[in-house]
Amino acid sequence: MSKPLSKTQPKTATEDASAVEERLPEPIPATDKPAESDDAGKFVDRAGAIWAKVQGAKDKAREVWLCDALVVMGLVRSHNSEEWCLWIRFKDPDGVQHEEHVSYEELTLEPRKAIARLARSGLKFNPRREAQELFCEYLRTVKTKKRWRSAFRVGWCERSYVFADDSITRKDDPVVYVGPDRADFRTKCAGTLAEWTTQVAQRCRGNSRLIILTCAAFASVLLKWLDEENAGFHLVGRTSDGKTTALIVAGSAWGGGHPMGFVRSWRTTENGCELFAIQHCDGLLVLDELAQIDPKHAATVVYTLLNGQAKNRMASDLRRMGADSWRVIVISSGEITLGEHMDSGGARIRGGQSVRMLDIPADAGKGMGVFEELHGTPTPADFAREISAAARRCYGTPIRQFLKLLLPDLDAKVGWCREWIEWFMSQLPAGLGSETARAARRFALLAAAGELATSFGITGWDEHEANDAARRCFDDWLSNRGTTGSSDDAAAVAQVMAFIEAHGASRFQSEDDRDSVSPRIIHNRAGFVRTNFKTRELEYLFLAETFRNEVCKGFDSQLALRALKERGLLRIQESGRLTVKRSVENMAKNQGYYAVVLDIE
Ligand SMILES: Nc1ncnc2c1ncn2[C@@H]1O[C@H](COP(=O)(O)OP(=O)(O)OP(=O)(O)O)[C@@H](O)[C@H]1O
Ligand SMILES: [Mg+2]
Repeated sequence: MSKPLSKTQPKTATEDASAVEERLPEPIPATDKPAESDDAGKFVDRAGAIWAKVQGAKDKAREVWLCDALVVMGLVRSHNSEEWCLWIRFKDPDGVQHEEHVSYEELTLEPRKAIARLARSGLKFNPRREAQELFCEYLRTVKTKKRWRSAFRVGWCERSYVFADDSITRKDDPVVYVGPDRADFRTKCAGTLAEWTTQVAQRCRGNSRLIILTCAAFASVLLKWLDEENAGFHLVGRTSDGKTTALIVAGSAWGGGHPMGFVRSWRTTENGCELFAIQHCDGLLVLDELAQIDPKHAATVVYTLLNGQAKNRMASDLRRMGADSWRVIVISSGEITLGEHMDSGGARIRGGQSVRMLDIPADAGKGMGVFEELHGTPTPADFAREISAAARRCYGTPIRQFLKLLLPDLDAKVGWCREWIEWFMSQLPAGLGSETARAARRFALLAAAGELATSFGITGWDEHEANDAARRCFDDWLSNRGTTGSSDDAAAVAQVMAFIEAHGASRFQSEDDRDSVSPRIIHNRAGFVRTNFKTRELEYLFLAETFRNEVCKGFDSQLALRALKERGLLRIQESGRLTVKRSVENMAKNQGYYAVVLDIE
């Protein structure tokens, strides 16, 4: 493959990365720090504790211990300069670091509630009433120059990227997450980026499935800037093919720390999936084992996740947080496809769903399941164990580095990705149907994101390695799907043909035995059938009502008729009407029928 225009290739250097900063947890100083107090010097910070100076009896000054050491990180306010709060950091008696946001509103209206929250997180403080009042006064009056913007959810906030526990943010207007459930997020880091590159990304080389799922990790943060649709990629194959391993590997670009790494289970409800989506907004959501979700809910959950909109009933509190919509890339695994799973629950997959969630055969065709290259490991099972262990050891750093290098000169890098996507599309065979082209664009996005990550020095892959893996998986997706046209059209035609096969002899009255002495009695008639020996055709005349309500059950009958017509299977009137007029014995003269015509073998 030739290279897209390289003149706009992003720089790999980090020269302009100084415009952004990455806020990672800093240790709390163990020793005294300078007094951080009100102007009057009423509060002092001494020996790892906060004290207040008060006038005692007979004007004798005394000091009251308020609480153990805490660090004031700054003042936080929303984008419209409301909802002011103080951001503090402290350690519990075990030495575990905690962060809390205490709003001025809470300190004024419900100070006891604020104190109870801090106590729950393990801040040691003086429980006496006087001390508690002084403590609240301290929080209300403490001086701090640092300012932050609040973000109620993770993901992009203007041009800053917010994680639950840190942010990659512009220095001149830094942002911090103040939303709920910080502990539930798995976007944690372990190991260094160099370790991840050598131990995880390098092992992905030569393995198209591992590469594209990892590309999806990077692509997820580009959706907003490229204005691309949410996308799902579903790895489908036999048991012990390495599917979950592949998900753990890709998820390690984002985080981990859980026995399943960054991987979550499909076992969820509609509400649960909305919460997942919000927690993974502008990011990657990894869902393992599709069979765990009730097939009856699968379609709605996939639709909700990938449509990117919360349902109205959820919206009241989420909307308040600005979190009623999301962008996300879902990667998933299962022994069956979404369509098969829905079938088992009596529902049928629609074209729209099958291009939202693209089935990628897990078996890469080398007799090693998901894997194609074992990098010297004796067996695929050993390789799976090694790469999975590495991904559980080193995680979280790649996406942070990607964002850090993406932010400076963002527009140029987004433009470069756009160019790569167009180039990828231009390499595909001409005449792809609209659904196929839509799916291809999602693979193109993976290619562009992977190439960008490579140019940033994150993956250690060769140039075009990500692109080639994306193309390979697109080709596999296409051949697995078996048609370059619309899958809904194909399914509708198949359903009509299946109806004729099943009922052609029993539910269509044959015009040919009209003159027979004992014509067959047809129960539950669906229409009539005529043989034209001259043209060697069978003409099935469907009663319109039966065709719409029974034959096309689950489909729009107009879509089915259009698809039949496109394939030359529907006889139409010269005027273009989709019904033909026929006079059949004992039926109204010149009644309209849908006429499906098949060649006689
Ligand atoms: N390609 C492979 N060939 C043979 N064994 C493998 C392969 N990949 C993984 N294994 C082994 O199979 C076990 C399960 O791996 P993994 O969970 O990744 O598979 P899976 O495809 O998700 O299986 P399941 O469908 O049961 O969830 C592991 O012990 C692993 O070592
Ligand atoms: Mg599995």
